[in-house]
Amino acid sequence: MPLSKDERYEKMKEIRDELLNFTESPLHKYRTENKYFPVVGEGSHLASIMFIGEAPGKNEAETARPFCGRSGKLLDEMIASIGLKREDVYITNIVKDRPQDNRDPSPEEIRLYAPFLDRQIEIIEPKVIATLGRFSMDYVMNMFNLWDVLDSISNMHGREFTATASYGDIVIVPLYHPAVALYNGSNKETLLNDFQILKKYV
Ligand code: URA
Repeated sequence: MPLSKDERYEKMKEIRDELLNFTESPLHKYRTENKYFPVVGEGSHLASIMFIGEAPGKNEAETARPFCGRSGKLLDEMIASIGLKREDVYITNIVKDRPQDNRDPSPEEIRLYAPFLDRQIEIIEPKVIATLGRFSMDYVMNMFNLWDVLDSISNMHGREFTATASYGDIVIVPLYHPAVALYNGSNKETLLNDFQILKKYV
C-alpha cells in the first residue's frame, strides 16, 4: 500500500535528519566548514515523475534546494515544456552533499549516499524516473537490474526502459544533464525533444 502524504513527509524528514548527521561521509566536514546544507530533494511527495541529478553545486548547498542555479533554470524550462511545474515533480540527486570544486561525485560517495536515494524512491513510488547525466543513469539502470542494456549516455538518452520496482512497474528515461545543454543550442534541442517522452506520464 502506498504511504499517505503525511507518512511520506515524515520519512523524508527522517532522511533529512540522518543526512544532517552523516559524519561517515567525507563531504560532511566540507559541508560544516562552509556552512552548507545537505540537499535532500524538492517537489511533490506524490509525484509520478522523479528527476535524479548528480550532486549539489554551490548554489544548491547554500540554499538546500536541488537544481536552483543555471542548470536548474534550464530544468524548470524543460519541465514547463511538458506542462508541469517544479512543484508537480520530485527532484533530487544521488549524492546529497556538495563535492569540492564541483568535481564529479566519486564511486565511494555514490555508494555512501545511494541508500538515501533508494529510500526516497520507495517513499515516492514514481511511475517514471528521469535520470539527469551519466552518474544517475548508471546507478538507476543498475539498481533496476538493467545492466545488460546499459550503454553510453549518447546511445541511451531519450529512450524508455521498463523495469520492476518493489511497488510495481517503473519506466526509466535517461536524459542528458541540463549543464551540457547550457551553452550549446543543439544539445538544448536534444534535451527538449527527449523531454517530450515524459508528456505521456503527466
Ligand atoms: N547539478 C546536479 O546534478 N544537481 C543539482 O542539484 C545541481 C546541479
